[in-house]
Amino acid sequence: MDYLVHPLLDQSTTKSLVQKLLSNGSPWQDGKTTAGSHAAKVKNNYQLDRNSKLALESSKDIIQQITNDQLIKSFALPKLIHGIMFTRTTEGQGYGMHIDNAYMSTGRSDLSFTLFLSDPQSYEGGELDIQNMQNNKEIKLSSGHIFIYPSTSLHAVKKVTKGERLVCVGWIQSHISSNEDRNTLFGLDAGSKALLARYGRSPELDLIFQSYSNLLRRLGD
Ligand code: NI
Repeated sequence: MDYLVHPLLDQSTTKSLVQKLLSNGSPWQDGKTTAGSHAAKVKNNYQLDRNSKLALESSKDIIQQITNDQLIKSFALPKLIHGIMFTRTTEGQGYGMHIDNAYMSTGRSDLSFTLFLSDPQSYEGGELDIQNMQNNKEIKLSSGHIFIYPSTSLHAVKKVTKGERLVCVGWIQSHISSNEDRNTLFGLDAGSKALLARYGRSPELDLIFQSYSNLLRRLGD
């Protein structure tokens, strides 16, 4: 599986985060300041000052939530969760098609994520548009849901035509840089855990768990 859609924050956590982010005096600035020179040409949004107390504290909470999530751990095999940014896209704004930098000052980008914070009913447009070989995928999730996708994909944020889109974006440096290897490992892990839940322990499953761990040791960094 290439992508993961998953509920990360409950409704009350999401709501209080949104309130904090949108409260008076929150330090929003032009999003171009953090884009690479190529991406800056197509980037049109606001970002919370990354060095502000609000951004630092909120990032820490989100990293903690992601780290504690067992399904994300199995899917992404995170070594480092980094580059967290809070982004606001208002009417008429968007982010054109681009590729994320492979190496950022904060780490390598193997997987990108968008944590949707606004209620999807509260704005129009603003879909995350992921381009792959077969087709384009447009993503707009309920508030508190996270979308994790390979950083190797070209992607855009469609123009917001009404209201305002508030999200948190960030990157995962994985123990496994190859999407194909990571997906294979995820299938093995998810399948064997489901068998364990259904039938309980067995010597056969022990062999599968052993092979999974040894493959991870061999492929991972
Ligand atoms: Ni991007």
